[in-house]
Amino acid sequence: MGYLYLLSSIFFILGLRGLSSPETARRGNIFGIMGMIIAVGATLADPAVLSYGWIVSAILIGGTIGTVVAFKIEMTALPQLIAAFHSLVGLAAVFVALAALYNPMAYGLGNPGEIAIASLIEMALGMVIGAITFSGSAVAFAKLQGIMSSAPITFSRQHLLNALIGILILALLVNFVQTQILLVFWILIFAALILGVLIIVPIGGADMPVVISMLNSYSGWAACGIGFTLSNPALIITGALVGSSGAILSYIMCKGMNRSIIHVLLGGFGANTSEIASARAEDRQVKTGAAGDAAFLMKNASKVVIVPGYGMAVAQAQHALNEMAGLLKKEGVEIKYAIHPVAGRMPGHMNVLLAEANVAYDEVFELEEINHEFSTSEVVFVIGANDVTNPAAKTDPASPIFGMPILEVEKAGTVLFLKRSMASGYAGVENELFFSENTMMLFGDAKAMTEKIVQVLSQ
Ligand code: TAP
Repeated sequence: MGYLYLLSSIFFILGLRGLSSPETARRGNIFGIMGMIIAVGATLADPAVLSYGWIVSAILIGGTIGTVVAFKIEMTALPQLIAAFHSLVGLAAVFVALAALYNPMAYGLGNPGEIAIASLIEMALGMVIGAITFSGSAVAFAKLQGIMSSAPITFSRQHLLNALIGILILALLVNFVQTQILLVFWILIFAALILGVLIIVPIGGADMPVVISMLNSYSGWAACGIGFTLSNPALIITGALVGSSGAILSYIMCKGMNRSIIHVLLGGFGANTSEIASARAEDRQVKTGAAGDAAFLMKNASKVVIVPGYGMAVAQAQHALNEMAGLLKKEGVEIKYAIHPVAGRMPGHMNVLLAEANVAYDEVFELEEINHEFSTSEVVFVIGANDVTNPAAKTDPASPIFGMPILEVEKAGTVLFLKRSMASGYAGVENELFFSENTMMLFGDAKAMTEKIVQVLSQ
């Protein structure tokens, strides 16, 4: 059994490794599936399993729901789906801890009221992290799904209140370990649920994906704690893998946005100022163009760099974009794609979409690899991206995106911005580049406009 769990853990590690690059992501996924089949199979084969009725029913119901959701979900709704899944992991941790507390003999933990201190600590810690993950993820889901406002909810002495609840949880935990009183455990659950809500409500806007990744990390640590309660090495190892990889991903995202993780946790960023920015922008003059102008400019360039962003994802313009790039290449134009680490709404968002449209991996470049090339590019085609090109990140210390590394598209000969209006991006800040001498705005839906450019190029 132990060997099978070890084997499944190796598959999970190979899976994570595969997921680190778009070229190997598919293989990584298959490794992950194999690891999970081995882990579940080994658990089912455990002689301690007395009947399969409940287990098989749960697998059938859960598997069916998962399959239906996976087929139906839109790519842009993945963050909230992940939040919903994390909440279930947290809830499972709470239930397992409760089950172990009420029937410790079934878990080999001794008689009720006589559980060893180490087991009590593992159980209580796993439960607390699980409860915070559950309620925090539920709030994150509600914000991302639009059930509640995504703007940060802040009030005075919020951090003090959170700190006091944190101290209360610690005190209850110590008390529970000493007394094993069930009521104390229930109060502990309740306090952790409240803390989960309070931690997430002040976080808003562009910080939400970081929060999702952090909740992912918490869910891993909750599973890890429960792995100790259940003496299950597979759960301990995979919990630790999820916990640490989620934490690393949060760090990478914060670095991409130049936000400190402490600032993300303290919240308050991402209030919706986009309408104000857009109203201000509408008073000013911009140069606009049509599909024919864009086609002409790009066809006559020797190099075009394409910068995709969230709008391309919303419009599902990646296939039309690849078609446009193909036609330009036939004309002898060199095509490169520039990907910002936080373009879109989740890590790797643009890479996945471009891969779906069969864009060659060797045409796709990260920010550090491509930034020096803008000055030698005649045309940059920015499709549905905004914040990731905004020079305010370099020039305006008061801007919420100040310090975020950006794609320096303004250095190119001509910048084409394909978007529907003058509206701001996710961070809600105006982009001065729209008013630049060398900028041409192409107003329209990313897919529809790209298809029009394809039409012109095909004539
Ligand atoms: P944004 O700055 O959000 O800009 C996207 C632009 O796309 C909008 O200005 C919008 O303008 C346009 N758009 C929307 N629908 C469109 C459509 N159908 N056709 C054409 N254009 C459309 O996106 P970005 O440049 O990709 O930057 C990402 C933002 O998300 C950053 O602020 C980043 O910090 C944040 N964020 C990302 C992540 C990850 S991990 N990717 C994580 C956290 C935060 P119109 O309304 O005028 O069309």
